[in-house]
Amino acid sequence: MKFKIEGGVPLKGTIRIAGSKNAALPIICATLLTAQKVVLENVPEIIDVEVLLEILKEIGAKVEKLGPGKISLQTPKILDTKIDPAKATKLRASILCLGPLLGRHKKVIMPHPGGCFIGKRPIDTHLLALEKLAIKIVPADDSYICTTEGLVGAEIFLNEVSVTATENVVMAAVLAKGKTIIKNAACEPHVIDLTNFLRKLGAKISGAGTHTIEIEGVGSLSGTDGYCIHNDEVEAGTFLIAAAATGGEITLTDINPEYLDAVIEKLRQMGVDIKVTANKISVKRTGDLQAIKIQTNTYPGLPTDLQAPLTVLATQGRGQCLIHDWLYERRFGYLEDLIRMGAKIDVIDAHRILVHGPTKLHGEIIDSLDIRAGIALVIAALAAQGKSEINQTEIISRGYQNLAKRLQGLGARIVEEQ
Ligand code: EPZ
Repeated sequence: MKFKIEGGVPLKGTIRIAGSKNAALPIICATLLTAQKVVLENVPEIIDVEVLLEILKEIGAKVEKLGPGKISLQTPKILDTKIDPAKATKLRASILCLGPLLGRHKKVIMPHPGGCFIGKRPIDTHLLALEKLAIKIVPADDSYICTTEGLVGAEIFLNEVSVTATENVVMAAVLAKGKTIIKNAACEPHVIDLTNFLRKLGAKISGAGTHTIEIEGVGSLSGTDGYCIHNDEVEAGTFLIAAAATGGEITLTDINPEYLDAVIEKLRQMGVDIKVTANKISVKRTGDLQAIKIQTNTYPGLPTDLQAPLTVLATQGRGQCLIHDWLYERRFGYLEDLIRMGAKIDVIDAHRILVHGPTKLHGEIIDSLDIRAGIALVIAALAAQGKSEINQTEIISRGYQNLAKRLQGLGARIVEEQ
């Protein structure tokens, strides 16, 4: 698929933020922990969710679509614990089947996960932590043979403040014998959402949202006839940035602004006008943007998933803007295209670039690389003068539902074609 975009049109209007991709994926995996039926609401309609549901069906889950964003899942019996590598390598989140499956089964063969190629993205943190729960892990080719005689709680200090490693260990611990304490845990909103979901099924978890999470193992979990996934703060930040980059004025609805403190603060420092209420955020570009230092971090710092969109905005800022993403060593893949569109950017090293602005961007023909690089170049095309064509937009649809239609709703001149 491809997007054809006519840039230079300020985004205007109101947009409802969709359910969080990075909350939906672990929560879908967590449904493997119970034999009871679970109904999830506000599930984003994106390709990563579709692929993960296919993996769960092969494991033994019965999946039923009940309506837009509403699905029921039930895994009465685990039928297969050899995860299909062809599917597992399509997304990072496939690794999140490991913790829940070991909670209900003694052996799992887990392929090395895939996902956006934005760095080495090791899974050592997952494996080192899970081994502490009486799991034996033997690497075999591109997979891991994981066995256990029964999970036993432990005190674990994660060797990285890793989001999915925190989620995997929480899910493995909820049915383990005894107490698990996870130190150096990630605090992202999607970790909190996962633990809220598990507590609704009867898990005993405290401390989510801090760096120390405690889990008291229980014998089994119940089901639920409705759990609503929180809305996506990364998607919300993306649209705020797109409005600022195109000189527009939009309102986001159904979003918890406190999950966006870091990006709201940065945009205000750049000179963007932002007003928040309990579940709405209004953004308006009122004039020139100032270049500032942009450094990504773990939550509550600036999300690395907004680094690429912020770089596009930085091309419109007056002065030199240092962008420092210490988390990933290959997350500037989009720079070549952005420079071809007219940006002036010096690469300092694998983690730092210097953006000189403001520069006028012009339309180009572009290939998508990964979810966030892809959406960043969509924003660049919307802000640029002239026509752009963005290819392989399936990659962007892994993380953003119905993007072209939703941007059309904000006045963007964008069409999606085969
Ligand atoms: C999750 O990936 C997200 N994916 C990523 O979003 C996101 O970029 C990342 O968290 C960080 O927020 C899902 O939730 C499915 P990590 P995860 O282990 O868990 C390094 C997207 O576009 N690091 O938290 O795999 C680490 O080595 C995707 O939605 C340190 O070096 O990421 C890794 O390279 C892309 N030291 C990177 O940061 C630390 O203390 C992310 O780590 C912590 C992390």
